[in-house]
Amino acid sequence: MIIGGSASQALASQVAMELDDKLCSVETKKFPDGERYLRIKDEIPEDEKVIVVQSTGYPQDENMMELFFILDTLNDMNVTDITVVSPYLGYSRQERRFKEVECISAKATAKLIQTMGVKRLISINLHEQSICDLYDIPVDNLSAMPTIAEHIKNTFDVKPVILAPDKGAINFAKEIAMILDTDYDYLEKVRLSPEIVETKTKNISVKDKNVVIIDDIISTGGTIVNAINILKEQGAVAVDVFCVHPVLVNDAVLKINAAGAHSVQGTNTLKSDVSFVSVAKTIADHLKSL
Ligand code: R5P
Repeated sequence: MIIGGSASQALASQVAMELDDKLCSVETKKFPDGERYLRIKDEIPEDEKVIVVQSTGYPQDENMMELFFILDTLNDMNVTDITVVSPYLGYSRQERRFKEVECISAKATAKLIQTMGVKRLISINLHEQSICDLYDIPVDNLSAMPTIAEHIKNTFDVKPVILAPDKGAINFAKEIAMILDTDYDYLEKVRLSPEIVETKTKNISVKDKNVVIIDDIISTGGTIVNAINILKEQGAVAVDVFCVHPVLVNDAVLKINAAGAHSVQGTNTLKSDVSFVSVAKTIADHLKSL
């Protein structure tokens, strides 16, 4: 039985279709003061394996709270075999302390999820692999890169060079490039003098090349706009932009388009206007393999 929280209803129904499983209906609404109401509308036998699909992106607190409401209701129904699929796991950006006595929000949310009788957590391209260590239950950190690579293969006429906007994203670029059998690189900051810093591709030239930029998250779009500007200066023909999690704060897509992107695309770990690549099969295949 698959349950889709309101942040991931469409994705949950795609996963249910892939698995040929039943999608359970959930009624949610908001009271006038902003509090949430939740009701699981289908009967669920106690021995049923239940998969709850709910991303916990913006509004993070509401979506997280709704996840807890679903889990607590399942506990009340005596369902014990619960897997949570949170394709975008909110509060994952603070998984350690940068300053003294900061809240490690990824740890706090891990504690709460675990007290709700969850047996396993599945997510996609967690911001840091080390988030898995904050949990005592198994956490599977799946990659959307094979799906994104497949999408590029099926929709691009010319094989592009894959570029990470910084060193931290190089493994994403590498994963896609290996599948497509193409070149990959990342943008590196080089200090030419105490005053002058130049950002350029580390190893290969993008002159006259079609380039795909890949990152895990696009938030404000600043990282990508900077990368596009540099790639254009270096003579790239077309720059297409892909991300796993289209967080897209305010006018991020507009800014990226204005910088000259040929396209901006993301996966449906989060709902957005650019969530063109579905991770449903990635999730369903993994669930089948368990
Ligand atoms: C950073 O660690 C991430 O991989 C992204 O590069 C970052 O979140 C992008 O943020 P923004 O879109 O605000 O530049």
